[in-house]
Amino acid sequence: IKKIGLFTSGSDSPGMNAAIRAVVRTAVFYNIEVAGIRRGFEGMINGDIYEMNTKSVSNIIQRGGTLLKTGRSEDFKTAEGRQKAYEQLKKNGIEALVALGGNGTLKGMREFGDDYKDIKIIGVPCTIDNDLRGSDFTIGYDTAINTVIEAVDKIRETAESHDRLFIVEVMGRDSGMIALRTGMGVGAEAVLVPETKSDINALFDRLQRGRKDKTSKIVMVAEGDEPGSAFEIGKAIMKKFPHYDTRVSILGHIQRGGKPTCMDRVLASRLGVAAVEALRDGHTGEMVGLIHNNIAYTPFGQSVKHHRDVNAEFTRIVEMLSL
Ligand code: F6P
Repeated sequence: IKKIGLFTSGSDSPGMNAAIRAVVRTAVFYNIEVAGIRRGFEGMINGDIYEMNTKSVSNIIQRGGTLLKTGRSEDFKTAEGRQKAYEQLKKNGIEALVALGGNGTLKGMREFGDDYKDIKIIGVPCTIDNDLRGSDFTIGYDTAINTVIEAVDKIRETAESHDRLFIVEVMGRDSGMIALRTGMGVGAEAVLVPETKSDINALFDRLQRGRKDKTSKIVMVAEGDEPGSAFEIGKAIMKKFPHYDTRVSILGHIQRGGKPTCMDRVLASRLGVAAVEALRDGHTGEMVGLIHNNIAYTPFGQSVKHHRDVNAEFTRIVEMLSL
């Protein structure tokens, strides 16, 4: 391979820059040229492409966001859009792609790979949601959950002072990975995730069963949870327990920013190196990931097709320890 095209797509995640750095420097190490594609699939379609070298990735390992910028593209969902992208790649002499992103990015790459087999593609899992099969952790998840923990610890302090119950909504799209792990980490009284059917009456029971002298409570809700938004759950709790002083807090996009943690920087560095080496070894149409701390390759179709299960042990522990 003489030239790799590198891009970030979909939502950004902390650690993307560290992954960009790893891909560029590994390619340079193996005498492969790197073309940076700006703004994901849009930049591919519009030919927003520039040469990268080891200096272009200096001083970025510690920064959140993505140097290459990112976005979602409606055009790339069409055959015409993908064809334009293919033509731009050919024009720029790009023989392989390293795609940094989540579910939507890998789905896009799977379709593109079905149409154009002469371009080799490797995906690197970058999303705060940690919802891809084929990697125990995705790049950005660790930073996001640490951001959540820090925020909820602060909420707990004011909740405690005012004897309040807080419903805290976290991101994750249709995955409860962020909610469950951080729920355990902050000692939440209950965690509601989309993977298990959440029953509002069961939540009422849990809250009632709790210790009577416990005056502050935290309920973590994943944004994709079924019985409704955090505000709807908040309203239902206020109606059922008018004596609770209830507040709702939606953490939002704060979860996507910030300096990546050491875990995310190391994961990004390992997977960035693995992506380039996978291409050199002839892999294509696969996502590189870490399974039990070893590099693993998962075909795009499998990494995006099934939802990851939430850990039943986690749910049990949250319940047991919130007494
Ligand atoms: O996939 C990452 C994520 O932050 C999800 O958790 C969330 O549902 C979504 O992106 C939000 O997207 P946007 O930034 O377009 O609002």
